[in-house]
Amino acid sequence: MVKAKVAIIGAGLIGLSTAVCISDSIPDCTVTVIADRFTPNTTSDVAAGVLIPHFYPGTSVHQQKQWYRETFDFLSIICNSPNASEAGIHLISGWQIFKTVPDEKVPFWSDVVLGFRSMTERELKKFPQHKFGQVFTTLKCESPLYLIWLEKRLKENGGQVQVRKLEDLWELYGSYDIVVNCSGIGSRKLIGDLEIYPIRGQVLKVHAPWVTHFIRDGDGLTYIFPGIHSVTLGGTREKDNWNLAPDSSNSKNILNRCCALEPSLQAAKDIQVKVGLRPTRCAVKVQKETLVRGNEKLVVVHNYGHGAGGFSVHWGTAKEATQLVKECIAALQQPRCKAKL
Ligand SMILES: Cc1cc2nc3c(=O)[nH]c(=O)nc-3n(C[C@H](O)[C@H](O)[C@H](O)COP(=O)(O)OP(=O)(O)OC[C@H]3O[C@@H](n4cnc5c(N)ncnc54)[C@H](O)[C@@H]3O)c2cc1C
Ligand SMILES: *[C@@H]1O[C@H](CO)[C@@H](O)[C@H](O)[C@H]1NC(C)=O
Ligand SMILES: *[C@@H]1O[C@H](CO)[C@@H](O)[C@H](O)[C@H]1NC(C)=O
Ligand SMILES: *[C@@H]1O[C@H](CO)[C@@H](O)[C@H](O)[C@H]1NC(C)=O
Repeated sequence: MVKAKVAIIGAGLIGLSTAVCISDSIPDCTVTVIADRFTPNTTSDVAAGVLIPHFYPGTSVHQQKQWYRETFDFLSIICNSPNASEAGIHLISGWQIFKTVPDEKVPFWSDVVLGFRSMTERELKKFPQHKFGQVFTTLKCESPLYLIWLEKRLKENGGQVQVRKLEDLWELYGSYDIVVNCSGIGSRKLIGDLEIYPIRGQVLKVHAPWVTHFIRDGDGLTYIFPGIHSVTLGGTREKDNWNLAPDSSNSKNILNRCCALEPSLQAAKDIQVKVGLRPTRCAVKVQKETLVRGNEKLVVVHNYGHGAGGFSVHWGTAKEATQLVKECIAALQQPRCKAKL
């Protein structure tokens, strides 16, 4: 049987993880990742990469929790293997703290992370401005290590990568049987999906190896996430701001807010500034679509719009996109099989 040719648009976290998942589980296809930007130049390279879900209002809680659990379980196996340091996967423990007691003291993902509980009075003494907090252990993916590792796994599976900017998905017509669209914020221009918009995020990556616990303000604006090579300090959330240039007043503000939570960061060194655009939508789009132009048909599987929480759910959405690709391949092969009879 002729192998189905699958093109994946996007070499960020979503494109690479989807490509690995497809090449792991569908042997009778060839996989090519096509993107104009590769690590270290993607949005995914900017992220702290921590597995704390971001809520998508347009996706059911049940679905989000399933994606989160699948991602957590997948990364736990890597974390518990000799590959952990090369893949950039590690556990981190710490605190999520709140200035006012939240309505939902126990979030939907509390039984996916490890050791979830409320903070004690004594623990809260470190944060006099905050009234309530949660303690848990979760996983973190160090970018770009994790992206490099995914790309390596893809190549071990026989997958290929191509640097190329697409103006139109139809450019791939005739060369590929199925196109998987993991173009992140690029989707806005590429397919004209006006539901997707950027939320600009600026972070600092600093040298402060003595900081070993994460601290996240429940408002999502201020966070401190220790990683393998640096500590990520954040952040900003600026809707519809496309500016990728670092802003020095943002940086000063981030450092002040983080030092208020962790004063030892005043001694942080080697401050690097990074900016990324979170590809935001009310729901993640994981869907099949057949584009039609005259007699020509182009089978597309979408997997984009992960916003502020791509790392937290990426393996779950990659598995779902892979299932859709399997269905598309089965549909494509049906007439061929009949023709052989
Ligand atoms: C500051 C910040 C902190 C974050 N922290 C976290 C966190 O702690 N935890 C978490 O879960 N999430 C976090 N996120 C969110 C996470 O980074 C995103 O959800 C995720 O990176 C989205 O991945 P992606 O692959 O869809 O997009 P991208 O990484 O942007 O990849 C898109 C790819 O598509 C390609 N592409 C686009 N258009 C075209 C085209 N026309 N032709 C060819 N190629 C194209 C690009 O070149 C690129 O390779 C954070 C985001 C930011 C900005
Ligand atoms: C990343 O961007 C820089 C600056 O534009 C460029 O020099 C470099 O080649 C890019 N890296 C990759 C892997 O595309
Ligand atoms: C570790 O990496 C090797 C080589 O890439 C791979 O064969 C193996 O499946 C990986 N193990 C895990 C748990 O990811
Ligand atoms: C991906 O899909 C979105 C929405 O349909 C579209 O806007 C975008 O152009 C598509 N990207 C590519 C590379 O086809």
